[in-house]
Amino acid sequence: MTSRRSTRLCLVFAALCSMGAAAADFLGSESCKGCHPDAYTAWRASKHARSMESLTAEQQREARCTTCHAPNLTDQAMANIGCETCHGGGQYYAPAYVMKDPELARLVGLVDPSEKSCRSCHEPSSPSLRPFQFAEKLKAMDHWSAERQKRGATPSPRAER
Ligand code: HEC
Ligand code: HEC
Ligand code: HEC
Ligand code: HEC
Repeated sequence: MTSRRSTRLCLVFAALCSMGAAAADFLGSESCKGCHPDAYTAWRASKHARSMESLTAEQQREARCTTCHAPNLTDQAMANIGCETCHGGGQYYAPAYVMKDPELARLVGLVDPSEKSCRSCHEPSSPSLRPFQFAEKLKAMDHWSAERQKRGATPSPRAER
């Protein structure tokens, strides 16, 4: 959906919008912590946050392992599977005024991770006993319910518009 508003925003943020699809730089998962404490805590306790630890020192240098266990090791010098591995590099969307505007945030790089994105790593060759069940695995990595609950209690910036 491209509204007139977002077109106008694109004129203002012309440089950013043209970069929207390009890889923005990562700020690191720590940078999301202050504004998304619940999401951060849940992620920190997840296997994604420690995916490098399943590899030996030698395997941590092997692309055939790091493509899934540390996919941003070479391009962003980031270990494990962080917020931005799934949500996109935060360079342009992380500033508060952008984050409060869901449409603008997406124009400048915020990604809504899909089942397809999970399957780029959770594919038949990965060491799982059972085939990947999206709904079940999504539930197992919940880091949004607490946030949404809090948002319900206090009106979100989106609802205020
Ligand atoms: C300065 C504070 C701030 C920082 C830093 C920040 N966010 Fe946000 N984020 C927000 C606010 C505020 C919202 C809007 C919440 C709402 O709609 O009620 C938001 C929304 C989101 C959403 C949901 C967007 C939607 O419309 O559904 C995601 C996903 C998200 N942020 C991810 C991240 C990630 C990943 C990082 C780190 C790279 C990050 N945020 C850094 C404040 C921040
Ligand atoms: C295609 C993506 C992919 C690649 C490539 C990959 N892994 Fe994994 N690996 C996964 C996924 C996904 C899981 C989690 C599976 C699950 O528990 O559902 C996993 C889990 C593991 C685990 C933990 C298993 C357990 O029982 O907890 C180890 C150890 C591991 N991988 C080692 C490796 C090594 C060593 C390499 C390189 C030779 C490698 N992986 C390459 C996707 C991958
Ligand atoms: C493995 C991929 C993955 C990682 C890693 C990840 N997320 Fe998410 N995140 C998702 C998915 C998928 C959803 C949407 C779930 C849904 O809508 O049911 C989501 C939802 C969210 C939401 C809620 C959006 C809304 O509309 O309410 C926020 C906020 C968020 N993530 C922030 C973060 C932060 C901060 C981190 C790191 C601390 C992080 N995520 C790490 C995949 C990921
Ligand atoms: C960049 C690759 C990658 C992506 C994308 C990814 N995962 Fe994972 N995931 C892994 C790896 C690797 C592990 C195992 C980490 C370990 O134990 O070393 C894992 C582990 C998990 C686990 C814990 C083990 C298990 O099977 O119960 C869950 C749950 C999970 N992922 C769900 C998801 C979901 C849902 C998505 C999509 C929203 C997703 N993952 C996207 C690579 C990925």
